[in-house]
Amino acid sequence: MSNSTATPDRLSVHLHQDDWKHHLADLTRTGLQEEQAWLPPVWFYDSRGSELFDQITRLQEYYPTRAERAILERHAGEIMFLAAPHVMVELGSGTSDKTRALLAAGLAHGRLRSFIPLDCSQAPLQEAVAQLAAEYPSLEVQGLVADFNRQLHHVNDATAPGSRRMVSFLGSTIGNFTTTERELFLREVATTMRPGDTLLLGTDLVKERSRLREAYDDPAGVTAAFNLNALQVLNDELGADFETDWFEHRAVWDPQLGRIEMHLVSLTRQEVRVEELELTRRFAPGEWIRSEISTKFRPGDVVAELRESGLRIVGQWFDDNRDFALTLAEL
Ligand code: AVJ
Repeated sequence: MSNSTATPDRLSVHLHQDDWKHHLADLTRTGLQEEQAWLPPVWFYDSRGSELFDQITRLQEYYPTRAERAILERHAGEIMFLAAPHVMVELGSGTSDKTRALLAAGLAHGRLRSFIPLDCSQAPLQEAVAQLAAEYPSLEVQGLVADFNRQLHHVNDATAPGSRRMVSFLGSTIGNFTTTERELFLREVATTMRPGDTLLLGTDLVKERSRLREAYDDPAGVTAAFNLNALQVLNDELGADFETDWFEHRAVWDPQLGRIEMHLVSLTRQEVRVEELELTRRFAPGEWIRSEISTKFRPGDVVAELRESGLRIVGQWFDDNRDFALTLAEL
């Protein structure tokens, strides 16, 4: 997309929301036409879904958010000392909640002068940017509305050539990618980086099956509601007629691929029409839609994958329980 809009309120829009919706519609068409149906996980995060995700992060069973926050709170100073960025770029920033520990450390002890949160969702980003600018008056905050899978090059337009940058990709969002997508993504990040730039990557780690399953299938049913909400979003956004009561949430751990898969299992023989995609899909009882993958890593795998994409490992940090890892790598 060539036409970008610079808004006075510290936001550069490289992803117009109607283009984004078209792209998501194309992905969804592809996913629903495949024999094993799948959906892109971005549909989760409408306003109700974002609220449900927020509830998930506060569940006893869902440890990743707490674990990552604990690492950041304990090691932000060291991380920012080692990376010493002038500019921090956060991919898929959302509310930049956990990132505040890094911003505070970078401002207090480092040379941080600017923060660039990048997100595909314009309205929440705009809100976060305003909030952050008010909270950190000495920080230059510039939001980028962009798709981190296709538009990383805009990061370079937004940063001055001489400045050292740290790119953060937190929350184990990278776990949503397949192995191939991850490889492409890391290569793209490395291509965008300049010598001296760093990448800070948050990854959830492999652990006992029971804890993984409970984190994605909590007894209170919040994750189930979150998963089923994606169907409601398709009804709202693409004129689908999913009957959410005729699907059931399921979380499956695949030990071979090292990932949790979230499924929406059809409880009956049914036919779903997606009006805006001009598509009809039949489901047999027990047939499912894969709505998300959440890969779990071994610390050494993270190191190996970063090295393979051309980066050098600076450090790796864990919470006390070794549930989660933050890895810092330099070009
Ligand atoms: C935000 C994508 C990292 O995979 O754990 C939480 C989303 N899905 N519960 C994850 C999620 C189900 C989460 N990520």
